Amino acid sequence: MITLQENSQTSYQLPPQVIEPAWYQTARAILQPLENLDWHQKKYGDIFISRFLGLPSQVIISHPQAIQELFTADAKLFETGSGGRIVQPLLGSNSLVLLDGDRHLQQRKLLMPPFHGERMKAYGNSICEIATQVTSQWQIGQAFLARPSMQEISLKVILRTVFGLTEGERYQQIQRILIEMLDTFNQPLSAVFLFFSSLQKDLGTWSPWGKFIRRRKQLDELIYQEIRERRQQPESQGEDILSLLLSARDDNNQPMSDVELRDELMTMLFAGHETTAIALAWALYWIHYQPEVREKLLQELNSIDIANADPTTIAQLPYLNAVCSETLRIYPIVFFCLPRILQAPMQLMGYDLPKGMTISACIYSTHHRPDIYPEPERFRPERFLERQFSPYEFLPFGGGNRRCLGMAFALFEMKLVLTTILSHYSLELLEKAPLKPVRRGIVFTPAGGVRLMVKHKF
Ligand code: HEM
Repeated sequence: MITLQENSQTSYQLPPQVIEPAWYQTARAILQPLENLDWHQKKYGDIFISRFLGLPSQVIISHPQAIQELFTADAKLFETGSGGRIVQPLLGSNSLVLLDGDRHLQQRKLLMPPFHGERMKAYGNSICEIATQVTSQWQIGQAFLARPSMQEISLKVILRTVFGLTEGERYQQIQRILIEMLDTFNQPLSAVFLFFSSLQKDLGTWSPWGKFIRRRKQLDELIYQEIRERRQQPESQGEDILSLLLSARDDNNQPMSDVELRDELMTMLFAGHETTAIALAWALYWIHYQPEVREKLLQELNSIDIANADPTTIAQLPYLNAVCSETLRIYPIVFFCLPRILQAPMQLMGYDLPKGMTISACIYSTHHRPDIYPEPERFRPERFLERQFSPYEFLPFGGGNRRCLGMAFALFEMKLVLTTILSHYSLELLEKAPLKPVRRGIVFTPAGGVRLMVKHKF
């Protein structure tokens, strides 16, 4: 149970603290994140305190009870915005990820509808069309990397959803610059620029941070051009998110400013496409790593008339759903939920946590608990058919008031893209050794990008 304590003089019973120095914990978290988490979970258990350079102490939790207490607590108890410093240079301070309180709630209400229900379903045909168009470049006998290929699909999908853009010079430029910006973080070590603001120095065109901010400026210019044009042409408003934001008014009947619009659009672009692309690349890896999974999936797909099936029918297929869930369980794309900074003392799993402490729910460690997922290192979609997991046991999209805005959309997209690919191509996995996740900025991606080859086209 969680209690809000009035008296800040209370003596706290804190969770165990990791004994290694902060610099060592930071280096390991950046360079050997999996080993580090497995080791700490083994040594300290379900709840412990870690220290990272330049950040306040963090309570890391991976027990469903602690996660339930966190997700169901009064949202006013936490602040997330100031903990999201890492993404601020990219997304801007008006990004949903960095907002708290009433402003966060209002923006979520505004942004939620296009990613759910009928509005989302309307995008089903576009997703299949884009997947068909991108994969039509694949040649029989030619090797390709799944991650960049899936990124091309998910980026086109999000550009259509967010901006209503389908083609044109601006569309091409936004695509190119976004990919270049994300590629800055291709090497695990490049993530240090996000973690340490002292390294965020513009030392010219060739320096990593210099390159990053020049690209960001180019991207900003393109986004501001689009915003200006759309403001001047109200008749061009459509079903996309930019149109929705342009017509939104606050309590004082004021529209969003250009900077506010830019930050929200950047958030959707970044949060919404690379994550889904990586999830798709992992799914293709597992489906071809374990041929029996592919067989079962094809059997299920063949049981319906794919060519004429409604996208929502595809989204409800149980084994396809289990494959997507197991993909997101075994190597979640984001290892931690957004940090929650306590605004008042709180009790969590019987420990007393003081005001100012940061709580980070570890998705990866929770998904690797053998008491919930026997043989956690094994890819076994059947576990999702045998039992239902609670939102505190299975949380690839986080939870509570910060749960991923794009959860339904990402799952819908994953299922439609996988169906499009499997029903048109027979692929072969060219990776010989088992793949492990590596850091790419703040997400985790299959090392090397998953090499595949087209065997046949149907
Ligand atoms: C497989 C794909 C995706 C994964 C694994 C993923 C994962 C996550 C996670 C773990 C969080 C933090 C939740 C928390 O702290 O409780 C989050 C937040 C968020 N995600 Fe996603 N995400 C995905 C796709 C998307 C898509 C398609 C969008 C499109 C809009 C999106 C937009 C967001 C936003 C805006 C937030 C911040 C929510 C808030 O602060 O209220 N994500 N996501």
